[in-house]
Amino acid sequence: MNQMKDFNLNQKKILIRMDLNVPIHNGIITSHTRINKSIPTILFALSKNAQIIIASHLGRPQEGKYEKKFSLFPVFKYLEKKLKNVSMCFIKNYLNGIKKNNYSIIFLENVRFNIGEKQNNIELSKKYANLCDIFVMDAFATAHRKESSTFGICQFASKICAGPLLISEIKNLNIILLKPKKPLITIIGGSKVSTKFKLLKSLIKITDFLIVGGGIANTFIAINNNVGKSLYEPNFVQEAKKLLATQKIIMPLDSRVGTSFSNNTQSYVRKLNEIQNHEEIMDIGDQTIKYYQKIISKARTILWNGPVGVFEFSNFSLGTQKIAESIVQSKAFSVAGGGDTLSVIKLFNLKKKISYISTGGGSFLEFIEKGTLPVLSLLNKKKS
Ligand code: 3PG
Repeated sequence: MNQMKDFNLNQKKILIRMDLNVPIHNGIITSHTRINKSIPTILFALSKNAQIIIASHLGRPQEGKYEKKFSLFPVFKYLEKKLKNVSMCFIKNYLNGIKKNNYSIIFLENVRFNIGEKQNNIELSKKYANLCDIFVMDAFATAHRKESSTFGICQFASKICAGPLLISEIKNLNIILLKPKKPLITIIGGSKVSTKFKLLKSLIKITDFLIVGGGIANTFIAINNNVGKSLYEPNFVQEAKKLLATQKIIMPLDSRVGTSFSNNTQSYVRKLNEIQNHEEIMDIGDQTIKYYQKIISKARTILWNGPVGVFEFSNFSLGTQKIAESIVQSKAFSVAGGGDTLSVIKLFNLKKKISYISTGGGSFLEFIEKGTLPVLSLLNKKKS
């Protein structure tokens, strides 16, 4: 796979596809992780005297329609502040070419405003390709999408390469997938139960123990117990049974429950066989916390995706907090990824203590499941 350092970037127009899809509420960016992780790529291009064009998507706007809440302008302003003395401009209309100017960085408006972006439209891909001499794919978090600015452009740009963030994501995830120090302990929680069940099947092959939390754990609990009003996936209970038979699944011994999905509901710990119809599992119980902590303490490699409870409610965040703390206290090489996981890391201020934090959500899970992503095969193939 070609990398930026393999090309002479001097005075070359390089279009860097980044994933600057960050949460923005009322114009305020609430997590800067993806932007901050993209800055080294920009600094590298600046140091090589390249003419930089930055492209990204933000959210899921209706195509062909400008909506202010999906504008990348706040991200542009943040970057402008971070890169103090670098001249930057923000462009809304760029598909028919960018006029020559003296800015060091040209920042393009949300590519998903363009008709055809999500369908990987050929004409649009060609238009993007015409904007640059070299295309740099650095958007790991969008590398699972076959869209014009990620996948299509690779087919038409005269030169293509991977950016440093993309390379680093692959390198760190491959430590887990290809040569993890054993035991490898995986922790999978969160609420996207059906999506993640597919992932469990792949993970069980590489991991020594798989600790489950959230809606995933509830589906395992439902094999032999009433789970009341809890979030779980009835269609996957049989699948859960098969996975349990591998003896690699570590599931809760008890649960913290409430009677409504709210932080105001009374919270108490129940044994698994005591959960009532009107109750809802919202966290792991105290016995489970100790059990999970003991297993995590033995890990030499840890893969973590998803909270083990409703961490947004303070009455149900203890399990997630304790598990997150044991991950950072362990001496293992730890990799964390996924939107909710990043929020947990931010909430409990654990950022500096995880060995590697992936910027990917869906792409992180797909890479773990399949060991590759659509655009990677193009980057591998085309050696310009
Ligand atoms: C993400 O947040 O996972 C990526 O930016 C991809 O966004 P998407 O799911 O809207 O394609």
